[in-house]
Amino acid sequence: MTGADQMAWLSLSIETDCLHAEALADALLEAGALAVSIEDADAGTADEKPQFGEPGSITRPGWDRSRVSALVKPDTDSRLLIGTCAAQAGLDALPTFTHEEVAEQDWVQVTQSQFEPIRVSERLWIVPSWHDAPDPAAMVLVMDPGMAFGTGSHPTTRLCLEWLERTISTGMSVLDYGCGSGILAIAAARLGAAEVLGVDIDEQAVTASTSNAQRNGVSARFQDSGRELSGQFDVVVANILANPLKVLAPAISGHVRRGGRLALSGILLEQTDDLIAAYAPWLPLAVADTRDGWVCLTGVKA
Ligand SMILES: C[S@@+](CC[C@H](N)C(=O)[O-])C[C@H]1O[C@@H](n2cnc3c(N)ncnc32)[C@H](O)[C@@H]1O
Repeated sequence: MTGADQMAWLSLSIETDCLHAEALADALLEAGALAVSIEDADAGTADEKPQFGEPGSITRPGWDRSRVSALVKPDTDSRLLIGTCAAQAGLDALPTFTHEEVAEQDWVQVTQSQFEPIRVSERLWIVPSWHDAPDPAAMVLVMDPGMAFGTGSHPTTRLCLEWLERTISTGMSVLDYGCGSGILAIAAARLGAAEVLGVDIDEQAVTASTSNAQRNGVSARFQDSGRELSGQFDVVVANILANPLKVLAPAISGHVRRGGRLALSGILLEQTDDLIAAYAPWLPLAVADTRDGWVCLTGVKA
């Protein structure tokens, strides 16, 4: 295809609020948009409001000023489409919008180019499957963005990976509680752990972790956290969120052997004291590291 033949698309950018953004995005998809995304309308400005959370923890993007972007066919009547979708989303008036033509691109390539290899430490890298390993001597975790949380880009995952790298030695047993994509369990196995078990409340996470472990050629087991789980481990790591971590305190602590180590993340700085208190009956925790407002708490069971 020559440049002149290439199909152009229309890119719509619509300003709305957090109450209507998701419904508007759904209506646009329903109406045939090729792709839709919701972002902070103030992204890149001093008013930008970063949001961190695991999938499922934020049901509606919480930006007061949200921008809904959509890619639609070039002959679309933008005003008509946006008016119809806005009404479906419960908006009384036509929202402010802009539109511009964009040339056809390889959208898969564009998406993939947004995920570059991540260097976790001197030797540990997270590399998307479509990239070559950046360093032949690197210890590589092959992880693709997918359905389950844990591609290594979140600060809490990085904190846990860095701690595992400092902690794991050959032959250890490891429990990854809330395994998501399996990234921490896979890292533990690559770092020399002999027995690795990952559990998650989400069935999709168990499936994704199993296939990610196979792809990485490591031996690790994954199971639904609703299933009976017995035994104690040399190392337990749990990157969930403060509330479930508090509820799970007796269970998670119970899986750490005497002299074994525990790391918790998914905890905001201001939740630190609360979490330390929740685990105090079982083992003493202290802040090992912090990043972007998140902490990693670690401790040894007496
Ligand atoms: C923040 S993600 C962490 C994923 C991965 N371990 C990482 O560090 O990137 C938290 C995971 O915990 C799981 N989870 C949440 N509550 C849980 C619970 N009560 N029991 C087990 N897993 C849970 C979620 O389904 C999700 O996959």
